[in-house]
Amino acid sequence: MFHSKCIGNSYVGVTSRFDVPQQFIKWATPFPEYQPYQYNEPSFLSATPPVWADNVDYTTIDFNERGIYGNITTINGVPINPVGRTGITGRGVLGKWGPNPAGDPLFTKWKRDDDGNIIMVNGKPIMMFVAIERVDGGDGGNARFALPGGMVDYGESISMTILREFNEEALGGLQTDEVKHITSQLTQMMDKTGKIIYRGYVDDRRNTDNAWMVTTCIHVHDKTGIIFDKFPLKGGDDAKQAFWMEYHPSLENFTLYANHADWVKNAYDSLNNIQPQKTWFEHIIDMVRSYATCRFI
Ligand code: BGC
Repeated sequence: MFHSKCIGNSYVGVTSRFDVPQQFIKWATPFPEYQPYQYNEPSFLSATPPVWADNVDYTTIDFNERGIYGNITTINGVPINPVGRTGITGRGVLGKWGPNPAGDPLFTKWKRDDDGNIIMVNGKPIMMFVAIERVDGGDGGNARFALPGGMVDYGESISMTILREFNEEALGGLQTDEVKHITSQLTQMMDKTGKIIYRGYVDDRRNTDNAWMVTTCIHVHDKTGIIFDKFPLKGGDDAKQAFWMEYHPSLENFTLYANHADWVKNAYDSLNNIQPQKTWFEHIIDMVRSYATCRFI
C-alpha cells in the first residue's frame, strides 16, 4: 500500500496539505522539513459533536481495542498513520482517531446476451458489479464511481453495515416486500458464499497522519445471475445513481474511488480460476466443431 490519493496540495477541498514528495512518504525516511498542517472538522470541536465522532481528548481512547486492522502505533498517545505521511495532522474530516472502519459490498454477475449466454471477449467473460456515482464526486473523473459502501455504525457488524449501505445507496433505501425478499436472499448468499476480498487500510483522500480509513470488502458472485438480475437498482443517500458497471481485463485505465478498482480486479481474477459453465448452446457448437474437425483433417 502506498499513498496516491491522500497526498497532494488539497485536503478534500477544505484546506491544504503540506507537500510530501513520494520518496518521503515512509516515516522511516528522514524529512526534517516536514511541517504538516492541522485540520479538525469544526463540528467535532463544538459542544455537540456528531454521535459517530470521538472526543477531542484522544487520551481516553483504548487504541488496542481498535487494532483489529493491524497494530496501532501511538506517539504521546496520538495514533500514527501506518503507511506514512499525508501532509496533514488531526482528524481532518474523519470522526475517529486512528482507523475509521467501513464496509463495502462487491456484488457481481456475468454479462449475458438475450439468450442467457455469457458474453466473452478475447476468451474471457465480462463481469458486472453494482456501482454507484457518489454525490460528493468522489475522487473526480471516473473515480466518482464507487462500490456502495459506507461507515460502520456503533454496534453494527460488518455484514450489517454492508447490507444497510447497499440498501441505502443502491436500492433507494426502500423497504418494499420485493426489497426485503432480496435482502434476505443476499444475507444467505453472504453467509454461504461471501468472500472477504479485502480487509485493511484504504488510500482514501480523507486520511491524515492521525486518522485513516480501513474497510472490509465482501464479494458475493451470483453464478447464474437469477437473483442479482432482480435487483431494482436505484440511487439514494450518498449515491446519485446505482447501476451495473462492467469490468473486463482488456479495459485500460479502469479507475474507481479510493482502492475499489483493485478489489474488483482481484475478484475477477479469483473467479476466473473457475471457468464459467458452458450453456447447452455452447456445448452443441463445440460438438459440431469437433465433429467437423475430425472429418476434415
Ligand atoms: C466509503 C467506502 C470506502 C471507504 C474507504 C467510505 O466512506 O463509503 O466505499 O471503501 O470510505 O475509502
